[in-house]
Amino acid sequence: MKAWVQVLQHLADGRFHSGEELAFALGCSRSAVWKQLQNIRQLPGIEVDSVKGKGYRLSRPLDLLQEDVLLARLSETNRTRLGACNVLHTVDSTNALAMDERLQRSGQAMAWFAELQTAGRGRRGRPWVSSFGDNIYFSLAYRFDLAMGQLAGLSVATGAVLVQLLREYGLTGHGLKWPNDIHWEGRKLAGILLEAHGETDGPSTAVIGIGVNLRLDKRVAEGIDQPCATLEDAGLLIDRSHFAGDLLNTVISMCEQYQGNGLEPFLQIWRDNDLYKGKEVALLGPNNEIRGINEGLADNGGLSLSVNGVSKTYFAGELSLRPTDEVDRV
Ligand code: BTN
Repeated sequence: MKAWVQVLQHLADGRFHSGEELAFALGCSRSAVWKQLQNIRQLPGIEVDSVKGKGYRLSRPLDLLQEDVLLARLSETNRTRLGACNVLHTVDSTNALAMDERLQRSGQAMAWFAELQTAGRGRRGRPWVSSFGDNIYFSLAYRFDLAMGQLAGLSVATGAVLVQLLREYGLTGHGLKWPNDIHWEGRKLAGILLEAHGETDGPSTAVIGIGVNLRLDKRVAEGIDQPCATLEDAGLLIDRSHFAGDLLNTVISMCEQYQGNGLEPFLQIWRDNDLYKGKEVALLGPNNEIRGINEGLADNGGLSLSVNGVSKTYFAGELSLRPTDEVDRV
């Protein structure tokens, strides 16, 4: 384990630890500890207080992910479906790792979690900003005996089960914006990025990337280009390892069900949580904007819009409310 991680684990309790104590615990010199503290201070969202005579402490305790606690949340069946689960401290993007075919064991699901992503990927080429140890950054690579084209509805199915899981954790007032953004009080709480590779006719591997905001450092939040919400804003303080494990369990079960039954079992859940149905919306493409009334989720996972009185289904674009009925602009 890297030395800075060891120092951070000692400091995670939010209490003071002297340089001497840290040096003893790590078996190194006090100046080596000081050097690691400089590295820790660079992590987004982390502040280290240093007080003469007391030592060092984090400005707030950290709830670091614990792999054993996380894995204990999986059902026995899902444990057998999982080839490996990697809990990382920093990574460029868990999706980028999961898309790397060399890292995948054939036929088994593989999961990646990270405390921090340095180049997190969002939809439509946007960045997904991170702060260390606060949120969930998770990717699952899952192999399907399905053609690539049949994976299209997976992102909608993932949105549906994530909304449900958040409700089981006590969240209310949240819902879905097509295809899979989760909003709470008009602000984005969680996002899903689906990537895939494989044979056109199958088998194919889907990489399901999920980011959930549990808590965001104020300075980190300033770097995000859209209004965002956290579970903390909603008054929910949850155990990160429990939530990460339940999320992994939920997404593996969802994949298994999708393999057998496709999107159908998830349509009603999605529709029951649609925040935009019946509203006047605009669907933004790279070069155009389509305006219409949102008729809701189509059976194939597309977005059904009534455009000048004619129903059409769309499969791509960024949905936003028309300014006329803009209640919660996104
Ligand atoms: C969106 O823009 O709504 C999608 C955001 C997806 C973010 C998650 S965080 C874990 C995984 N790794 C990434 O680089 N992106 C996804």
